Amino acid sequence: MTTPIRTAPGWLASVIGLVARLRRVIWWTLTFELLNKLDKRRLLRAFVIPRVRPEYRVEIRIPDYVRESAAPYQIEEFRELIERVDIRGKRILEIGSDYHMCSARLFQANGARAVVGTNMGDWRSDEALPAGVEIKVGDVSDVACPPESFDIIYGIAVLEHIADLEKVCRAIKTLLRPDGVVYLQGQPLWSGPSGHHVWYHPEPSAESAASAHGRVDVPVLYRFDQAERNPIPDWAHLVLGPDEMEGLLIRNGVPASHAAGITRFVYNLGDEKTGSSSNFQSAGAILDILAEFFDIEAERIPFDIDEERIHSSTKKNTYYRRALRRYSKEDLWTQGLRVWMRHKTESRAAFRIERDALESGNPASG
Ligand SMILES: C[S@@+](CC[C@H](N)C(=O)[O-])C[C@H]1O[C@@H](n2cnc3c(N)ncnc32)[C@H](O)[C@@H]1O
Repeated sequence: MTTPIRTAPGWLASVIGLVARLRRVIWWTLTFELLNKLDKRRLLRAFVIPRVRPEYRVEIRIPDYVRESAAPYQIEEFRELIERVDIRGKRILEIGSDYHMCSARLFQANGARAVVGTNMGDWRSDEALPAGVEIKVGDVSDVACPPESFDIIYGIAVLEHIADLEKVCRAIKTLLRPDGVVYLQGQPLWSGPSGHHVWYHPEPSAESAASAHGRVDVPVLYRFDQAERNPIPDWAHLVLGPDEMEGLLIRNGVPASHAAGITRFVYNLGDEKTGSSSNFQSAGAILDILAEFFDIEAERIPFDIDEERIHSSTKKNTYYRRALRRYSKEDLWTQGLRVWMRHKTESRAAFRIERDALESGNPASG
């Protein structure tokens, strides 16, 4: 008796044949996905900096005008500070005050003794400033105040805009009290995916659009903070020269005159954006400068990963790959920085801001 030979049904044989033919492709796709995941986990570890947060949320007094005018990050960054430092009775210097003076008003409303705001630009809302708050127009480095005038020096959305960071550090060193605290924040930094900071409207003029930060009355056609209005692919500004950028924008459908204006803004070709442009520095370079002058504690704010824009499942964004030749991976994925600083102290082994707000209760209730 002969045993019938069992053969796979026709459809199964076809599937096996197809898998055999595609095995290289399947193998590489799976390997890429695995590497990709490992890579991300490593990145995540690099960004998870242990931060001790108080168990409570500090109650912040928000004046009506600030409630109407502030951008959400202005409240968030103020909270970052106030949850770690007691501002009551303190003298505050602000670097780069906003159009509505929201941060300065928050300090005043929550118990600071005096607030001095600064900004290179003289544009300012007409709303009267409360007692104890003043604005000085000009570079913070030129502020005419006696040495050691301030307990807290604060600047948000500024780290990427300070053209001469070393000069500003020297000024801070002079103006800060021996036990004073500095809090600086900024984003997006030049080495991040949208570090070009594009903020451009062709009408009425590039200059007025460039000076429009914080103002709500100038419509901005191209802006880094809204994906649908950001015409520049992530990290492209780090590897393209101005001509290549202009060409890319035109190929992507941006009208030629807009493309020229955007390019001029991104690379500050007309040197029009004094004090308000990106300073072209990577996160690492900024930290190196700050650490030369102060004891620092820094938090890198990672890029909010958008899979579709960064890499498809088979290939990484080509600008990212090319930018890696010049910048560290960590810098390319750093969207922003929060930096705490104090005067250098030889004996202090590790930098740490005392959470005096925690010790002495809710600042707003004092
Ligand atoms: C993006 S704006 C941020 C303003 C504000 N802090 C806010 O939250 O909207 C950065 C500002 O920093 C100011 N700035 C840059 N360098 C400065 C300096 N050395 N002294 C004072 N202000 C400066 C610029 O004029 C610009 O208005």
